Amino acid sequence: MAVHLYPFIRNMDQRQSIFVFENNDRISAFLIDQWKEISGEAIRRRGVFSVALSGGGTPISFYQRLAEDPHAFPWNKIHLFLADERFVPHDHPDSNYRMVRQTLLNKIEIPRENVHPVPLETPDLQSSAEKYEVELTRFFKLSPGQIPRFDLILLGIGEDGHTASLFPGSPALTEGKHFAAPVVLDHVRHQRVTLTLPVINQAENVLFLVTGENKATVVRKIVDQEDFSLPASRVHPGSGNLFFLLDQEAGSQLTR
Ligand code: 6PG
Repeated sequence: MAVHLYPFIRNMDQRQSIFVFENNDRISAFLIDQWKEISGEAIRRRGVFSVALSGGGTPISFYQRLAEDPHAFPWNKIHLFLADERFVPHDHPDSNYRMVRQTLLNKIEIPRENVHPVPLETPDLQSSAEKYEVELTRFFKLSPGQIPRFDLILLGIGEDGHTASLFPGSPALTEGKHFAAPVVLDHVRHQRVTLTLPVINQAENVLFLVTGENKATVVRKIVDQEDFSLPASRVHPGSGNLFFLLDQEAGSQLTR
């Protein structure tokens, strides 16, 4: 087990690493390098880089950083999806698409067809999830039985251990076939659509981005104890890499 500080790197096995940084700014800088490497490799191999972005507050500074130099990346070869979305109009303050648009999309030149928001102009949540699945099937050119393989999925973790919009006890957590699932839970603000575990666990790289002392306990439960009741503990890309990028506060209760 390799141990480094700032970044403190702990390899849980060859494909799982934990990095602890001084602050979110350092995380964003590291992420930019990861993005360069992963996108460069994907574009070299297949001509295209596919990524699912998460919502929430943590990735905002990273998205802003990505947009700092609008010519730093070949955006015409990059396809952006969302790991989850709230079922609200795209201009709603709680819309993940709105956040990504404001922090990133408005500042770069990316072809419209390279951006794949969760479709919300549907009569209901179920049809939104179904339409997203159709879009994923089309984009990844899947035959029946195949699962999309994103080059990168960027995820956050909530204090209750949710990731994307996979909440503890939610039926979406046990979805084994569909790529996107509706989420309706009394205690969760807004109905949502989320990518499902089969898709997340099929990715080539999954990167958890977690900051703040309020996440320290849940990070310990996920990383040290692999508490399976917490959705984020169920993220294990079978043939991909899993990274936890934490700031000092979020990593402060790690013991192993
Ligand atoms: C969302 C998410 C969600 C988020 C976590 C962490 O739409 O809310 O995608 O899974 O990543 O709740 O959110 P913060 O980054 O705001 O702590």
